[in-house]
Amino acid sequence: MKVRNCRIIKLKFFDDGIDGNLVIAESAKQVPFQIKRVYFINNLKSRKAVRGKHAHKRLKQVLFCINGSFELQLDDGVRRERVLLAKPHMGVYMGSNVWHTMHNFSPDCVILVLASDFYKEFDYIRNYRDFIDRVNKKK
Ligand code: TYD
Repeated sequence: MKVRNCRIIKLKFFDDGIDGNLVIAESAKQVPFQIKRVYFINNLKSRKAVRGKHAHKRLKQVLFCINGSFELQLDDGVRRERVLLAKPHMGVYMGSNVWHTMHNFSPDCVILVLASDFYKEFDYIRNYRDFIDRVNKKK
């Protein structure tokens, strides 16, 4: 991927035919950190729904679309990239300081997020200008 601190994560899965699929994510293995928190997002019935619109100072996350599809827009302050998540075993690792926005959710979309830390509001950068200032200072 061209955006800094981001990469595609592929999970191991078993296609058990009529018995469905089994997909596995392990802490500090396929997921490149110790998982401290798991959350999911569903009920995305509106085509106009938008989530994210922030970056994190330290938090690392891996996002999966375990049902349906959505578009993830990534921005490291220099480069931007859009990724379509539509396969349950294909996730995106997002390190710190990545501005991200999620949209174009299919009505059946379920997003699963694995995170490296507990919820901490002080870790959020919710203002895009502040984000740009921060990444420029880091250069
Ligand atoms: P936010 O991370 O902004 O949602 P998204 O990026 O998916 O659009 O979180 C929305 C609200 O939920 C915010 O008020 C904080 C709260 N929240 C928690 O309390 N714990 C959590 O683990 C998360 C992810 C959010």
